[in-house]
Amino acid sequence: MKREALMQAVQMRMSEKRFKHVLGVEETAVALAERFGASPEKASIAALTHDYAKERSDEEFQLAIEQGSYSNKSELLKYGNAIWHGVVGADFVAHELQITDQEILSAIRLHTTGGAEMSLLDKIIYVADYIEPGRNFPGVEDARVIAFSDLDQAVAFETKHTLAHLIESETPVYPKTIETYNRWVVGIE
Ligand SMILES: [Fe+2]
Ligand SMILES: [Fe+2]
Repeated sequence: MKREALMQAVQMRMSEKRFKHVLGVEETAVALAERFGASPEKASIAALTHDYAKERSDEEFQLAIEQGSYSNKSELLKYGNAIWHGVVGADFVAHELQITDQEILSAIRLHTTGGAEMSLLDKIIYVADYIEPGRNFPGVEDARVIAFSDLDQAVAFETKHTLAHLIESETPVYPKTIETYNRWVVGIE
């Protein structure tokens, strides 16, 4: 699918506000790809589709999990949209938008939780989602500066702050987020 058609397919699935966020992530992801030598085309596609499934109902996600081939179905079902729209959303993108590139699908899958193992593209989408121009939270300027100088440091910065926020708000923490923390913040290999 060409960029224009992809943009339209994505826009149809979300609010104007979220679509603006998606375009901000795309702009940032392409800039990071150019900075660190990843494919700007893949960064663009992954960014445009990363939140494709974010506005689906819980019922739709639960059905997809039950019918899908997830190794941790019963655990996955305990979480919610925040986790599902990446982990399960990647499969919606694959099936509905015919995106077969595994690097792109991995970046979508990991965009909220990160992972102990992350490719350059995974890191770019994870970080771009956090620092895109529409984001406005204390520390976002620091995160932006770090991102364009050291992507691994940016992954660590984001993970640490996200986890702190989850704990502060007593939000469930998906185990993969802990793995991301141990690898990129603490440095356990
Ligand atoms: Fe997201
Ligand atoms: Fe996002």
